[in-house]
Amino acid sequence: MRVAVIGVGYVGLTTAACLAHLGHEVIAADVVEDKVNALNDGRIPIVEEGLEDLVQTGLEKGLLRFVHGSDRAVPEVDFVFLCVPTPQDEDGSADLSYVEAAAATIGPHLRPETIVVNKSTVPVGSTHVVERALQRDDVFVVSNPEFLREGSAVHDFLNPDRIVVGADSATAAIKVTELFSAIRTAVVVTDPPTAETIKYASNAFLATKVSFVNAMANVCEAVGANVRDVVLGMGYDKRIGSAFLAPGPGWGGSCFPKDSQALVSIAEQAGYDFGLLRGVIDVNRAQHQRVVDRLTEMVGGSLAGQRIAAWGLTFKARTDDLRDSPALEVIKRLTDAGACVTAYDPTHPSGFESFSVAGDALSACDDAVALVVLTEWDEFRWIDLGKARARMMAHRIYDTRNVIDPLAARRAGFTFAAVGLAG
Ligand code: NAD
Ligand code: UGA
Repeated sequence: MRVAVIGVGYVGLTTAACLAHLGHEVIAADVVEDKVNALNDGRIPIVEEGLEDLVQTGLEKGLLRFVHGSDRAVPEVDFVFLCVPTPQDEDGSADLSYVEAAAATIGPHLRPETIVVNKSTVPVGSTHVVERALQRDDVFVVSNPEFLREGSAVHDFLNPDRIVVGADSATAAIKVTELFSAIRTAVVVTDPPTAETIKYASNAFLATKVSFVNAMANVCEAVGANVRDVVLGMGYDKRIGSAFLAPGPGWGGSCFPKDSQALVSIAEQAGYDFGLLRGVIDVNRAQHQRVVDRLTEMVGGSLAGQRIAAWGLTFKARTDDLRDSPALEVIKRLTDAGACVTAYDPTHPSGFESFSVAGDALSACDDAVALVVLTEWDEFRWIDLGKARARMMAHRIYDTRNVIDPLAARRAGFTFAAVGLAG
């Protein structure tokens, strides 16, 4: 099939490369010209395992190409995937302006019967917003929310737990499911508002799971239980499952924060106060502060003038995405309290004003009085803690991701604390 993808960010680029991998002829468009040029040279602008290989293979086989401007991508295709941002608006709701702008641009250039597939995460009713913006009554609009995770985007796209298609037209729904016929999984065909709701419900439920386990970790600290064993014991129960039960510094990223807030807002506009989800968001904010409070306690009651090493800046491991990263939120609170932070992240981000970034994990430890682990990168699991200790002024570790072995840390001469681990 011939497919256009509008917006080549984390979702659009994965969608384009994977659809080409499945044998479709894909033309992907973005408004950022440099990005388009780099992609046509086979270079990808993000860290995402396996994606560059798929892009290069797609280009070589002639099944994938990139163009600047979405109007140029759509005139010859059967399907158009909208993968543009839906950031949080000032009032907490989802900002649909990118989706509307993209639809308005492509509208005049579509062939009759084209199926416009909305993959961006959008509130209930947005399929009709797209229909209006397209200003065409001879094309179809279908909702096909995306459930991939950053860091395993290619794997998730090609091995999804389910595919959800929301359409008013049965013919359009069948055509969209046929696009994915090479993928063996459950397919849920429903109406557009239900498909849109499934997406928000899924993200909100996962965020709830993580907030629950973070709150449990705090209980564990208070009662002297070990959260690592608590989640092990809970996770064997098939009704609970072990996924999304890792406590941490609070959840973040480009989706959980905005999507949970948007669902609160969607419910509110519909007359329902989603108190449970508001609680989940509150627990998350408190978790960021709890990291700061415990670290303050560890260094003797005040962070002012204290040199702190921070390992990890991305919102989780295996991605370079810094959007709404809990690590950045914690570091902001540390520097606001007067700490002098040197951070390290394996993806080497730069351009921060309030703290410095070291080139490797050990250098970040130089002269620090405490080390805080904020992202669960594997290299932190295996690092030589003796070498870290030798570079620090005082020897304390606070591990918010449970990646450091407490015994190894204590043997190396550290005072050690971790989320969900009693004193
Ligand atoms: P992103 O910011 O990484 O990428 C969006 C891309 O769209 C950018 O490259 C931008 O330049 C481009 N763009 C903006 N307006 C455009 C236009 N009019 N025409 C062409 N290109 C345009 O965003 P993302 O993380 O890929 O998210 C996209 C959507 O998918 C959002 O609604 C998000 O909630 C949803 N989503 C994201 C993920 C994820 O893991 N990132 C997973 C599932 C769903
Ligand atoms: C999430 C969902 O998992 C995807 O299904 C969804 O498609 C995507 O949002 C989206 O809509 O954009 P992603 O944001 O890539 O994916 O990251 P997750 O792996 O879900 O992690 C989100 C946050 O929760 C991270 O900060 C992570 O560290 C934290 N987390 C996750 C935990 O603290 N503990 C866990 O057990 C799991």
